Amino acid sequence: MNDDASALLRLEDLVTAYGRGDDARAVDGVSLTLQRGEVLAVIGESGSGKSTLAMTALRLLEPRSGRVLFDGEDITHLGQRSLRRIRRRMQVVFQDPYESLDRRFRVHQIVEEPLLVHRLGADAEERRAMVHAALERTGLSPASLFADRYPHQLSGGQRQRVAIAASLVLSPEVLIADEPVSMLDVSARAGVLALLDTLRRDSDMAIVIITHDLAVAAHHADRIAVMYLGRVVEQGPAHEVVNRPVHPYTRALLSVVPPKDPLAPFAPQLLRGEIPPLSAIPPGCRFASRCPDVTPACLKTDPALLEVGPSRSAACILAAPALETSSPQGAHQ
Ligand SMILES: Nc1ncnc2c1ncn2[C@@H]1O[C@H](COP(=O)(O)OP(=O)(O)OP(=O)(O)O)[C@@H](O)[C@H]1O
Ligand SMILES: [Mg+2]
Repeated sequence: MNDDASALLRLEDLVTAYGRGDDARAVDGVSLTLQRGEVLAVIGESGSGKSTLAMTALRLLEPRSGRVLFDGEDITHLGQRSLRRIRRRMQVVFQDPYESLDRRFRVHQIVEEPLLVHRLGADAEERRAMVHAALERTGLSPASLFADRYPHQLSGGQRQRVAIAASLVLSPEVLIADEPVSMLDVSARAGVLALLDTLRRDSDMAIVIITHDLAVAAHHADRIAVMYLGRVVEQGPAHEVVNRPVHPYTRALLSVVPPKDPLAPFAPQLLRGEIPPLSAIPPGCRFASRCPDVTPACLKTDPALLEVGPSRSAACILAAPALETSSPQGAHQ
């Protein structure tokens, strides 16, 4: 309860649908909290609603119902003017830095733009110093080497660093990174992820990393929320979710991550069937049609996200007993 009260960002039973009807709920009753300085990974297959959730939290999409609270303030229905104040404090970085950067502008103009929008920095001189400091923080150093370049003169990793610098220049309290490395090659990926680690170490900025990649979530997040078809189906401390997943969907996602040791047994558990369309979500548990552990009761009960251990919850009628019987030490952490 304390955690909830002090949360920097708090989503309460959010519902977001596309189109006019209410049947295609891309986000269907999600509650999540983000603490100051915390790194939360949101994972799940394509189409599970991760980006829709992020866009709703940022108020770039309007929820049908539920609330978004930022630093204790209900921002769900805040007007555009007041939203600007919040946007400075909650920034987003998208998947494709080439798309998100304005190619007509030089790097220093791209990073200065948010300062102009938010009327920050007393004069050109001060803004220049802020831009250079932000570039340096992202590893684009010396900043003077990059400031006059255009996006097409940079590598993919450098472009994503520019996008991050354009957020950092505002000193946000929350950075939402939606698949920040999925367009990058392997070495650039590691560099950008290491940068996120550094940023979090050097400030109390909270970071949300949206990713398909469980290994990324395991290594870079404090907490993991697993989404399936618009719902959070499991959440908890990253090491716990990865080492002792309780939801069959999380277990399936984990089983397809190859072990680091090439000789270790590897038995990927491929999920059968397809994700049902949003317009035809079956009654009962929405994962039942693909679940390897399905029971007749699963077809009748739509499971709520319930506590299954300290700071852990899962939406599965089979989950609670599974955790209770697995390991008594679990109660300590
Ligand atoms: N603009 C849109 N109009 C209609 N439906 C949409 C729109 N954007 C997303 N959707 C649908 O909403 C659901 C959730 O999509 P969303 O992009 O949030 O998922 P995601 O988890 O971010 O997927 P990915 O991993 O592919 O980025 C999907 O069924 C998708 O088809
Ligand atoms: Mg997405």
